[in-house]
Amino acid sequence: MEKIAAYPGTFDPITNGHVELIKSGLLLFDRIVVLVAERKEKSTLFTLKERIDLVKESLKGLGNVTAEPLPGLLVDYLAKNGIHFILRGLRTVSDFDYELQMALINRELMQSCETVFIMANKGSIFISSSLVKEIATNGGDIEPFVPHCVNSQIKIKLRRK
Ligand code: COA
Repeated sequence: MEKIAAYPGTFDPITNGHVELIKSGLLLFDRIVVLVAERKEKSTLFTLKERIDLVKESLKGLGNVTAEPLPGLLVDYLAKNGIHFILRGLRTVSDFDYELQMALINRELMQSCETVFIMANKGSIFISSSLVKEIATNGGDIEPFVPHCVNSQIKIKLRRK
């Protein structure tokens, strides 16, 4: 049976840390569906469509990975699509409390779902989408931290703001 994992997140924008995690996930799973959450409560730099397009472009060379919008509850998407695994990354101890809470609430909502954690590489422990945006906003170089398409799109986006 095909082993499929959903990797949910805001991806505003996708970073090299996310890409590395997806590559590691492909060693465990046959297919990964990257779910880009709408996050109406969070104000994002990129629109939902832009975030999905950047995810797709960043993962272009990888087979068995797709990207889709996540408009509602994660467990609803999982149940509808027969997916039982959630992929998440752990960077620091401070990620753990939040991730544990999410994993437990998701299991409470859907008993057959299991969250699988992958440790971030030491080179990407310090990367986050907010930091990338902060560096770019202040004219810093984000090239080492993000896929090429994100680097160019963020510059266009910030110039328009
Ligand atoms: N490498 C680099 N950065 C990473 C990373 C990695 N491996 N893993 C996480 N991050 C960063 C992200 O860039 C993001 O940075 P930011 O806070 O600076 O923007 C931060 O860690 C949070 O990561 P993200 O994966 O976007 O998590 P989130 O907390 O924003 O997303 C959802 C949470 C979308 C998964 C969750 O809200 C969800 O499932 N929503 C759907 C609705 C739902 O079902 N809710 C109930 C479930 S609790």
